[in-house]
Amino acid sequence: MEVDKKEIESDEQVVNPWEVSAKDGGKIDYDKLIDKFGCQRLDQSLIDRVQRLTSRQPHVFLRRGVFFAHRDFNEILDAYEKGDKFYLYTGRGPSSEALHLGHLIPFMFTKYLQEAFKVPLVIQLTDDEKCMWKNLSVEESQRLARENAKDIIACGFDVTKTFIFSDFDYVGGAFYKNMVKVSKCVTLNKAMGIFGFSGEDHIGKLSFPPVQAVPSFPSSFPHLFPGKDNLRCLIPCAIDQDPYFRMTRDVAPRLGYSKPALIESSFFPALQGENGKMSASDPNSAIYVTDTAKDIKNKINRYAFSGGQDSIEKHRELGANLEVDIPVKYLSFFLEDDTELEHVKKEYGEGRMLTGEVKKRLTEVLTEMVERHRRARGAVTDEMVDAFMAVRPLPSMFE
Ligand code: TRP
Repeated sequence: MEVDKKEIESDEQVVNPWEVSAKDGGKIDYDKLIDKFGCQRLDQSLIDRVQRLTSRQPHVFLRRGVFFAHRDFNEILDAYEKGDKFYLYTGRGPSSEALHLGHLIPFMFTKYLQEAFKVPLVIQLTDDEKCMWKNLSVEESQRLARENAKDIIACGFDVTKTFIFSDFDYVGGAFYKNMVKVSKCVTLNKAMGIFGFSGEDHIGKLSFPPVQAVPSFPSSFPHLFPGKDNLRCLIPCAIDQDPYFRMTRDVAPRLGYSKPALIESSFFPALQGENGKMSASDPNSAIYVTDTAKDIKNKINRYAFSGGQDSIEKHRELGANLEVDIPVKYLSFFLEDDTELEHVKKEYGEGRMLTGEVKKRLTEVLTEMVERHRRARGAVTDEMVDAFMAVRPLPSMFE
């Protein structure tokens, strides 16, 4: 009986690259996910090590547990301590023109890692993936990839250390050879187990995982890492991407390659609350980088789920429920100042601060952030996109 119940429960939470849904419309249970996937928790001692090795305060997303799980990140740090560098790999599936704040999180964090560790970075735009999954034409996926590249560049990456590529443009040569090697190591049964493919899926989907796998191997980039076949790879990503890299890590030793290390984030919640989903079809579920100051203010005031009490009297007495409060949750992602965040949590949690005041502060923080992004994106020219996407050596990549 007990076993059955457990089986059913763990089946109800679904997290894979195409679907994220919690049990009974509740919150995602991240501890359970760590157990199920077999990754490790990112604990304070690792964060302290990052601080020591980089001589700077760890990023907010590390300090506040946004990136909460890893695979072999400790090994990357061991090697770095001995003077061995690594490279970073992340990516985006260009499925829409407008990015929301959740989309920026891995890129903001990757930019920090690039700066703090002074390492090169490859960014994969999986236009092929979105063409196959989202019913977009080849041309439209390619166009979206280039548009999204501008938003990514606007996050502040260093062009002397960063290579951005679209799969449609770059797959071939050494990259394709690695794809074929990976493909030969993964049976259909295995792929169905890891990704949940079924006999009804078209074969394009089955063929895709090796494309996302091989940027984990330096030999896929002969213009960047010639003769550096042992260079280790660290992948910052949201935890829904883990299945791709479980497969990658599984096959790597059989190909004589190192397993990529991972550092994985939780999901950014919808305005309506942690059990809500940010949905592309509901523009009011998320804040987009294209939203105006007025949009941001309206969305936060109207839709951000509040943990405050119904009446002021009750609120003063009981305080806000911070566990479910979206304004506080969003501030914990984007308000830099630890002291101010603690102050807000205490005052709001004990009822001295009202929801309206917290929402006002959040509106300021997000308006400034979105405004900064808009300016940066406006300054990204076509020449800059070409420069980031050119197949070229990166001479100063480890400096
Ligand atoms: N599949 C990812 C998406 O749909 C894009 C991606 C490709 C990616 N390579 C990656 C994400 C590496 C994180 C790390 O968004």
